Amino acid sequence: MKQHIDNIIFTTISRIVGENKQQAFVIGGYVRDILLKRPSKDIDIVTVGSGIELAKKVANALNPAIKISVFRNFGTAMFRYNNLEVEFVGARRESYNRNSRKPIVEDGTLEDDQKRRDFTINALAINLSPDKFGELIDPFTGLSDLDSKIIRTPLDPDTTYSDDPLRMLRAIRFANQLIFRICDDSMESIERNKDRIKIISSERIADELNKIMLCDKPSFGFKLLQKTGLLAIILPELEAMKGIDIKGGQKHKDNFYHTLEVLDNICKHTDNVWLRWAALLHDIGKPKTKRYSESLGWTFHGHEFIGSKMIPKIFRNLKLPLHDKMKYVEKIVGLHMRPIVLAQEIVTDSAVRRLLFEAGDDIEDLMTLCDADITSKNPDKVAKYLGNYQLVRRKLKEVEEKDHVRNWQPPIVGEEIIETFNLPPCKAIGDIKAAIKDAILDGEIENNYNAAKEFMLKIGQEMGFKPVK
Ligand code: CTP
Repeated sequence: MKQHIDNIIFTTISRIVGENKQQAFVIGGYVRDILLKRPSKDIDIVTVGSGIELAKKVANALNPAIKISVFRNFGTAMFRYNNLEVEFVGARRESYNRNSRKPIVEDGTLEDDQKRRDFTINALAINLSPDKFGELIDPFTGLSDLDSKIIRTPLDPDTTYSDDPLRMLRAIRFANQLIFRICDDSMESIERNKDRIKIISSERIADELNKIMLCDKPSFGFKLLQKTGLLAIILPELEAMKGIDIKGGQKHKDNFYHTLEVLDNICKHTDNVWLRWAALLHDIGKPKTKRYSESLGWTFHGHEFIGSKMIPKIFRNLKLPLHDKMKYVEKIVGLHMRPIVLAQEIVTDSAVRRLLFEAGDDIEDLMTLCDADITSKNPDKVAKYLGNYQLVRRKLKEVEEKDHVRNWQPPIVGEEIIETFNLPPCKAIGDIKAAIKDAILDGEIENNYNAAKEFMLKIGQEMGFKPVK
């Protein structure tokens, strides 16, 4: 391992612990990532004794100007050096209170520290003492689990997961990121302990969910979340999409698995996590709108509208960012059927103009979702749908070049309507504004100020208002 830690940070630590007859080790994710040849910027150092004191000495030796952040409550200290974040902690023995994540901490040995970690692959340590520099310390089969691609806890999984229930999500996230298998004992333990996830804050849950969302194939993680029962607790709206109903000999597709296919598809074309969220939630309104009739079979009328209305509650519950990220997801979900309808009908300029106006700069993202939404196994159908969307894209381009509605605002604003008819604040102002916008988008009047003004005067008078200027 020596060659992997041949770096001024580690050699400096080694020198200082040698001088002080102390022990220190690199531990956790950094060691795992060396062995997996993954890049890593976070170094965790554990020492037997005070982590804070060692951090101060090392930082001072590297460069006396380095700023150290000390977290006395946790007994940790960290600093940045050469683009790396180095955190120091004293080896600990921890036990947890059942109803909180707050550990009761006592000083301990390296092995005490290793066994209280989440997974064997995250409990590997490299010795930094000068006489044992680079020696791997692996008391819990971490190396062999890395080799066999297995997620396993160092202790009985019920203890490890109950101590810190976030680890149940971390197990699934690591399995997804590294394409590892969670060992059977752990899977069973997660199923048993799933309700303990409720003591974890939504922010930390969302953080793990986002890491799953950013994997190449997040369906892997979401299937595990579903299988262990965690999904029903943290995202019940998605769990509700699972299952197939049969009536009158007709069945609908399983919307949960369809959604996961769409999500995997979109991940090949975008790293935008919010577009990935839009893909995950695009059909979220289906369970609420599902109907069966003999004449039409299964329908989900208006699911895009109901789905987009469900987004704020989902985002609030998970403490995902509200405002523009949430609005974006709401918008994409709400509009996702529009290009489908356009592709099925004769594409009129006015329908294209309306879609461009409503989607604005997010039109390409919307079309990316529509492409990803094609999950048919029939290659002829796939080719046909993709071809239809190409047609819609061409039409979108043509209309945008001609009418520039993408970031367009109607030429008459509310203020002018108020002044023209001397109106108090009232609903009619919005109605007149909407009528002008609709007339332009539908091509009834031209897209310029004079035509809009004339139309405003006509509509206002039809509503019984007299122009005062
Ligand atoms: N750890 C743990 N239990 C947790 C979180 C972390 O035991 N709930 C331990 C693991 O040994 C882990 C180390 O603390 O390797 C560092 O945690 P963190 O930085 O969160 O994770 P990494 O393993 O470095 O991986 P990533 O950066 O991808 O989260």
